[in-house]
Amino acid sequence: MSTNGPDGTQAVAGLLAPLLRSGDVVLLTGGLATGKTTFVKAVVAALGSSATVTSPTFMLAQFYPLPQGTVLHVDAYRLSGSMSIVTWGWTITLTTQSP
Ligand SMILES: Nc1ncnc2c1ncn2[C@@H]1O[C@H](COP(=O)(O)OP(=O)(O)OP(=O)(O)O)[C@@H](O)[C@H]1O
Ligand SMILES: [Mg+2]
Repeated sequence: MSTNGPDGTQAVAGLLAPLLRSGDVVLLTGGLATGKTTFVKAVVAALGSSATVTSPTFMLAQFYPLPQGTVLHVDAYRLSGSMSIVTWGWTITLTTQSP
């Protein structure tokens, strides 16, 4: 899906947010500054959080606790090989693939 600007990206995020259920995974791909964080920011806001959402490029992962569950925002940009996040009894493993 492509949008013409932040407003469009926020609108798409606002439509998707109420459809998300616990355990859903949303994959965002795109080069630097293509609106991935803008999308996550709008999803988290639409779910009712006032948390400040930033790019987790240097953090790898950030958690946004919400009344209905926690949003885990992972940025795989600096990931090489694989990474596992163990949380709430789940193990999430991300593995990069050579182009
Ligand atoms: N179609 C679009 N959707 C979302 N943001 C856009 C769009 N066009 C331009 N922008 C602008 O691009 C800038 C970068 O957006 P954002 O930080 O969300 O990108 P990113 O993909 O998360 O970048 P990075 O890879 O550096 O983390 C913002 O200032 C945003 O307003
Ligand atoms: Mg980002």
